Amino acid sequence: MPKTRLRLVGALAAVLVAAGVTTGTPAQAHERPATLAELAHRHGRYFGSATDNPELTDTAYTSVLGSEFDMITPGNGMKWYATEPQQGVFDWTNGDEIVDLARANHQRVRAHTLVWHSQLPDWLTGRDWTADELRAVLKKHIQTEVRHYRGKVYSWDVVNEAFNEDGTYRDTIWYRTLGPGYIADALRWAHQADPHAKLYLNDYNIEAVGPKSDAYYRLAQELKAQRVPLDGVGLQAHLALQYGYPTTLEDNLRRFSRLGLDTALTEVDVRMILPATDEKLAQQADWYRDLTAACLAVRRCVGITVWDYTDKYSWIPAFFPGEGAALPYDEQLRPKPAYFAIRQALGGK
Ligand code: XIL
Repeated sequence: MPKTRLRLVGALAAVLVAAGVTTGTPAQAHERPATLAELAHRHGRYFGSATDNPELTDTAYTSVLGSEFDMITPGNGMKWYATEPQQGVFDWTNGDEIVDLARANHQRVRAHTLVWHSQLPDWLTGRDWTADELRAVLKKHIQTEVRHYRGKVYSWDVVNEAFNEDGTYRDTIWYRTLGPGYIADALRWAHQADPHAKLYLNDYNIEAVGPKSDAYYRLAQELKAQRVPLDGVGLQAHLALQYGYPTTLEDNLRRFSRLGLDTALTEVDVRMILPATDEKLAQQADWYRDLTAACLAVRRCVGITVWDYTDKYSWIPAFFPGEGAALPYDEQLRPKPAYFAIRQALGGK
């Protein structure tokens, strides 16, 4: 470079430094409060949020989504109805949009979900299948979708919500037609398609020790014994103030860890009967603090994902009429007591 240009560059740099314009100077890094992701990272954990395609046009929303979290789950975009709307015709539009956004924000992706009884396309639920036919349909769906996202996602919720509350197998199209072996098959097919993705079973109401989480514990033991590729168990943690806090959460996480499995809180929200009062919001904050502390206390609890971060886009009001206010940010995207409680549990200020 000619000398005059070099001098110009040097002068420009000096001006920028004086104006504090350069990024990543130590002084600036200290001024900005750490994000939930950064706080969690200090403990070797991630802090994630679900999101959904329609809300991605809301720039105030995407700004927080892109900065505060380091793991993203598509709330709907990777489900069967969205990805294989016609048999053998695959549509990656919605899943790709979220994976691309996550990548642009240097975030990882918890992919959700391959095998579930809900949000299936009509072509699948609208007719009878022999076991051989349905097994082929399931294998093709899993392998095509997992291959498409191979190398782009951290983990897969391979089977979602396979058990009833009493610990018996849920009577789904999969269980009815294929028997309980569909779970091991699904895990093996997913592993073949992406050997590096962490493979999870995921369910709700398995936060506490009880018949339903016992069923997962036994199944995980069996799958491990049979060398089936299972990496983790996801506890959705859709909690509700009126049903009480799952006080055995930490013990429960620990027993799965001892099997050599990762655990994660995958869909956290803490709903309440509306209207939200200061008292309920304070109790909600305590629960968020406690569940965060429980994950930090157990070595193989790898991270926490909230089922979207703001009450503006929560699924709760539509699915539990009269309930809501379940997330750490309110409908105006303002942090609630729960947000500060999570920070506190993560050791932030
Ligand atoms: C929910 C989505 O958030 C909604 O938008 C959709 O209408 C229904 O499904 N357990 C799960 C998630 O595993 O996939 C569900 O997500 C919430 C319950």
